[in-house]
Amino acid sequence: MTINEMQAEIIRLKKETNTAILVHSYQSREIVEIADYVGDSYKLSVDAKGIDADNILFCGVHFMAETAKMLSPQKRVFLANKNAGCPMAEQMDRDMIAKIKAEDPDRTVVAYINTTASLKTVCDVCVTSSSALKIVKAIDNDKILFIPDCNLGGFVKKKLPQKDIKLLNGGCPVHSSVTVEELEKAKAEYPDALVLVHPECIPDVVEKADYAGSTSGIMDFAKKSSAEEFIIGTEISIVQHLQYECPDKKFYPLSSKIVCRDMKLTTLPDVYNSLKGIETGGAFEILMSDELIAQSRKCIDEMIRLGG
Ligand code: 13P
Ligand code: SF4
Repeated sequence: MTINEMQAEIIRLKKETNTAILVHSYQSREIVEIADYVGDSYKLSVDAKGIDADNILFCGVHFMAETAKMLSPQKRVFLANKNAGCPMAEQMDRDMIAKIKAEDPDRTVVAYINTTASLKTVCDVCVTSSSALKIVKAIDNDKILFIPDCNLGGFVKKKLPQKDIKLLNGGCPVHSSVTVEELEKAKAEYPDALVLVHPECIPDVVEKADYAGSTSGIMDFAKKSSAEEFIIGTEISIVQHLQYECPDKKFYPLSSKIVCRDMKLTTLPDVYNSLKGIETGGAFEILMSDELIAQSRKCIDEMIRLGG
């Protein structure tokens, strides 16, 4: 089967099984093309809430599919590749945070959405990279514990000096691998280009960038800017998507290392096989107890309330 034939089959199967396909922007072009909803983690969370379909097939990583399940518990939710996890989401667990919370109970616990459902049960509010600043600002408490990403948390802390934000030592191994030397090298190579980075990068890299923002923030900035060249400091697929959407501009990766292996695990055949497996048990379904859904979704609802 060619890619086009497989895409046509996927479109037929999603109608036949009444499935909506949610795709994170770090997925490849051929998967983006068969999506019903594409976006960053905040947009997909909001989309998941209002979907009118029996099933959701998520192309992204595990915590994102879990979030979709929390927000659409009456639907069956599937992850296109069962091995796609986010290493940052596994860095801290519920018992560790519950203990820290017990020792410092006055702080509002703000969890980056890149966390497990189990950990979310002991957090007060979630944020994504596009909503973190707005939500932390809106919280009616100046004392905050921000987990797990100390780079994103540090970015928020710098912008909101009026808040007392405690950070822990976690982060994205992919974005935080980018060095200032790589940034300087890219700038020397493309002196007319603006540097746009994700706040999961280390502070020294963020400080030297022309713009720091979420995946959708970076894409919007590049599309609206009158500049013609951009060095992109987030997952490499964003370079490809932007180049496709803005053929008259030029996009360069800040580093060839910014490849999220987990996001790249999902292939078009995974999507096809998952749709075929929905009725036969061959697809990977996200199964959560009613209690876990009820406890973990509170901080997602709070995120949507404060970020909306
Ligand atoms: P966004 O919130 O920008 O979608 O980022 C998700 C993510 O995993 C970044 O690495
Ligand atoms: Fe997780 Fe980083 Fe991959 Fe995003 S890019 S899914 S934070 S490992």
